[in-house]
Amino acid sequence: MELEQALLARRSVRKFLPNKIDDETIHKLLYFAMCAPSACNKKPWEFYVIKDEEKLAEVKKASRFSNHNAPLAIVVAGNTRKALPLQLASYWIQDCSSAITHILLEATNLGLGSLWCGLHPQKRPAERVRKILNEGDHIVPLGLILLGYPAETPEPRSQYDEKKVHII
Ligand SMILES: Cc1cc2nc3c(=O)[nH]c(=O)nc-3n(C[C@H](O)[C@H](O)[C@H](O)COP(=O)(O)O)c2cc1C
Repeated sequence: MELEQALLARRSVRKFLPNKIDDETIHKLLYFAMCAPSACNKKPWEFYVIKDEEKLAEVKKASRFSNHNAPLAIVVAGNTRKALPLQLASYWIQDCSSAITHILLEATNLGLGSLWCGLHPQKRPAERVRKILNEGDHIVPLGLILLGYPAETPEPRSQYDEKKVHII
């Protein structure tokens, strides 16, 4: 798929087919996630691939608006031990967000549906997911990405708005 076509076609999918995603496809999602830019190239991200059905149900429940039938989830989390120091530390959020965007676009490219569900800064959902992952406080789950073959295809679109553009 052409990049511009993928940028338009990437939409939030909330209905999925039960078909599993194979390991090679999962690897591609992660491979392209890790091409993303990060501040000072710190790459303070961790990716948790949740295939196990019980764990999948647990993470979907832990996040508030993610109760959809996707057969796979990837939690993208910041590793604060690998983040920049002091006031630059919270760049991990932008770094992980850029990796999430890469996953969503590659998912679209591969014909998968995806949904980005927010965790951090919602304290309770992020904390619950961290516990499910069995990780310490230095791991902060930012996003739960639901993935699967789509059972719905929202229309490709841009939301271009001239009023948001400021030429200086
Ligand atoms: C940080 C973030 C958190 C989001 N959290 C959720 C969520 O918890 N549940 C959900 O159904 N959609 C969630 N979304 C998806 C947005 O609702 C969706 O991107 C927006 O409505 C635009 O629709 P589109 O993705 O089809 O372009 C989230 C998106 C972002 C960027």
